[in-house]
Amino acid sequence: MAEQNAPEYPPALELEKELTRKERQIEYLQTELRRYHNLMEELKQGMRPIGTVEEVKGDTALVRLSGGQAFQVSIPPEVRDKVNTSVDAVLSPTKGVIVDVIERMRDRSLLEYQVEKAPKVFYEDIVGLGKELLSLRQAIEWILDPETRTRREQIIRDPRMLEEAGSVLLFGPPGTGKTYMAKAVAGTISKHGQHTSFLKIESYEIVSKWLGESAKNVKEVFKLARESAPTVLFIDEADAIGRARMEATTDAGRDVQGMLNQILTELGEGFHVNRNVAVIFATNYPSVIDPALMDRMKRIIYVPPPKTREEVKRILDFYLSKVEVDPSISKYDGGLTEEAFDEIWRIIRSRRQVYEASIPDRGIIVKDQYVITPRDMKNIVQEAASEASFQGEPFVTIDRVTTLFRNLGSEERDSRIVS
Ligand SMILES: Nc1ncnc2c1ncn2[C@@H]1O[C@H](COP(=O)(O)OP(=O)(O)OP(=O)(O)O)[C@@H](O)[C@H]1O
Ligand SMILES: [Mg+2]
Repeated sequence: MAEQNAPEYPPALELEKELTRKERQIEYLQTELRRYHNLMEELKQGMRPIGTVEEVKGDTALVRLSGGQAFQVSIPPEVRDKVNTSVDAVLSPTKGVIVDVIERMRDRSLLEYQVEKAPKVFYEDIVGLGKELLSLRQAIEWILDPETRTRREQIIRDPRMLEEAGSVLLFGPPGTGKTYMAKAVAGTISKHGQHTSFLKIESYEIVSKWLGESAKNVKEVFKLARESAPTVLFIDEADAIGRARMEATTDAGRDVQGMLNQILTELGEGFHVNRNVAVIFATNYPSVIDPALMDRMKRIIYVPPPKTREEVKRILDFYLSKVEVDPSISKYDGGLTEEAFDEIWRIIRSRRQVYEASIPDRGIIVKDQYVITPRDMKNIVQEAASEASFQGEPFVTIDRVTTLFRNLGSEERDSRIVS
């Protein structure tokens, strides 16, 4: 009987915990918001209208922007000598004055992206992520590799049954292998004989310093991808596009809108135009991706961090097997003995990294807690090995490794990403 009257403490406690959790979330989001406001400000300040000088008359010139509008602008004395009809003019934000002169557009390469031919990363370099990699491979290998495509067409005889090429979105916390996986597709197909390029761009890079140029940059990127095809076109930080578009009322915002439209157009061209170009987007913040762009994602793949002790050990072992390790702590296959790993696990297991993301329209909700990323582990092994070699030691000792894990712990014990 007494039980029935007992006050319900646990739910209140739960609520309190939840409250603290939400407060922390708000705090985090506020910092994020500030960061993005600052970024946006920088972006806007850095943007200047640019156009072709069509006519020069005394102290004024007629300048046509890439959007088609022409402006009668004044030429201040400091640029007077440089202004003529064979250059482009950079205008003040109000478009009243020429502030600088640059080479004519068609002579100038806007982007200096590096196309990596046959990158040296392969499927066997990716630890864990079996399911995720398979999903990625299924979505894009046939776009790049004629042999895979032929096999597909042999099984799916009616061409109307063949799915259209679509883009893929990889999302997840930093350092879990998104870029690496995308690169491994190009690397592995290349190794099997079909040379495939990897073209990576950061979305922030396509947003041009020059107003009206962002859409042109997109065109150029896709053109370059087609010219180097088969190509894995990897568009990183895809959230930046949606983020910037929220400011659509400003000139800068309109420019980003134009850029987004251009991306949608390019993606909409389909397989026959973008022949052998597989487009992969990646982000840590999927909820910020523009809905129109999200609609184009044929596949959305969550790339999770390793979570269990075994998963963490597997990645660490993988990297340790590539360097010389103290024989007393390593097994015949190069992995750490359980005792040696226990020492490391004790140090890191209380770290609390949280990743939360949701894409409501696709029914995707992710909440993960983990202690360390593959990127951190790889860095630790690299650092331990280079310290050992610097000290003239023949191998990496457990002390070197544990010290680095401990330092990692003190830098940032708790971190959380919410999208
Ligand atoms: N699953 C994995 N297996 C083996 N190595 C990995 C794995 N994930 C990451 N790495 C290592 O960590 C490095 C960083 O990974 P990557 O650049 O792919 O991270 P990312 O997910 O793209 O992160 P970000 O969101 O910060 O761009 C890789 O170069 C690779 O060496
Ligand atoms: Mg990356």
